[in-house]
Amino acid sequence: MNYSRFGEKFTRPNAITQLMDDLGKANQSGQSDFVMLGGGNPAMIPEAQAVFIKELQRVANGKQAEHMLGLYDGPQGNEGFIQALVSLFNQTYGWSLGTSNIALTNGSQSSFFSLFNLLAGEMPDGSIKKILFPLVPEYVGYADQGLVENMFMAIRPEIHTLAHQQFKYQIDFERLATLLQQDGDSTGALCISRPTNPTGNVVTDAELAKLDQLAQKHQIPLIVDNAYGQPFPGAIYTDVRLNWNSNTILCMSLSKLGLPGLRTGIVIANEERIQALSRIAGITTLAPNSVGATLLTRLLQTQQILPLCEQVIKPYYQQKAVIAVQLFNEIFAGLPVYIHKLEGAFFMWLWFKDIGVHSDRLYADLKQQGVYIVPGHDAFMGLEPGAAEWAHQYQCIRINYAKDESMLKHGLQAIKSYIETAGNL
Ligand SMILES: Cc1ncc(COP(=O)(O)O)c(C=O)c1O
Repeated sequence: MNYSRFGEKFTRPNAITQLMDDLGKANQSGQSDFVMLGGGNPAMIPEAQAVFIKELQRVANGKQAEHMLGLYDGPQGNEGFIQALVSLFNQTYGWSLGTSNIALTNGSQSSFFSLFNLLAGEMPDGSIKKILFPLVPEYVGYADQGLVENMFMAIRPEIHTLAHQQFKYQIDFERLATLLQQDGDSTGALCISRPTNPTGNVVTDAELAKLDQLAQKHQIPLIVDNAYGQPFPGAIYTDVRLNWNSNTILCMSLSKLGLPGLRTGIVIANEERIQALSRIAGITTLAPNSVGATLLTRLLQTQQILPLCEQVIKPYYQQKAVIAVQLFNEIFAGLPVYIHKLEGAFFMWLWFKDIGVHSDRLYADLKQQGVYIVPGHDAFMGLEPGAAEWAHQYQCIRINYAKDESMLKHGLQAIKSYIETAGNL
């Protein structure tokens, strides 16, 4: 088929589509012997689902249903929901947002597509700008979103080893500052997910403030992907604050709250950037989906959403994290296997130091046994030249631990057996 350059780039096999394909098939198979530890599906937490379903019934029986189903919102998104978000954020965090600081999208994934291609790629003068990740591994869903090739650049992290077979990636600020000094003109934005998917890392307030300073110094925005952060779902287990300023583009989502099917993303940014996103939305989608916005507006206005996150959703994931670490300690004790410190989100990031097989092979062989994980190498996108020899990037996998304990245990045991035989660990 003769596709355009866009068509050729966007129809290649790619990691995020593979991941979503596995997830969709597993969710629909109804097969009980699937061990689905891949994908980023949030848990179905009964107490939270009961609140959402009750609200859905209330909406369905009221006047709002006609509007939700029968009217387009404007390209910036549902006004009532944006107003409710503004009030919630200003009251909770002391910000001074107005309604022109928020745009809704059809999920964060589409927020990033618009933002990355707005801020980087081919510039009007023909030069190319890139999105710079201060830390990788990063969210694999970013990797193929550029309209031009090689739109991402990343800095190799420092690896700090910790007690109990744990480790933590940290930003190499010296390298970041040097790179921005040398290459600042070809950088369109900094971007970091916090908590980080895939590792569960949470950069500290001081680290984020440093990124903010660097971004301001080089007059580029700092994009913070807060899909797992505060206030919803609030899956952060360290003591950090949520900050925003007019140079920050803060992205949120309703997905990890337990509502991925609603496809609702939220972008908080200065007016100019929100207007740019609204114009892109007008062209690409006319208007974002109204269902998520309608469903959540009253829950925000009545302040029900914050206690739900703080008292139900966060403790649920935090408890799962404790179990995940216990299982890791039980199953991998004494082996050259390390777990990234779990500070947020709901993923375990395992590092099989000295393993003899590439993470892609590990993924394919485990899939044959019905055990689904996410191979790690695709999350190291944009590393500087010369990084290809860095073996670490082929030795990691991501596991979704928001599962029932027996499935997680079974999956981890299968992984252990595999790496002991095929991986020579
Ligand atoms: C870090 C991160 N950002 C963004 C997204 C996209 O989320 P959604 O498009 O469902 O809002 C995900 C989904 O897994 C994610 O993990």
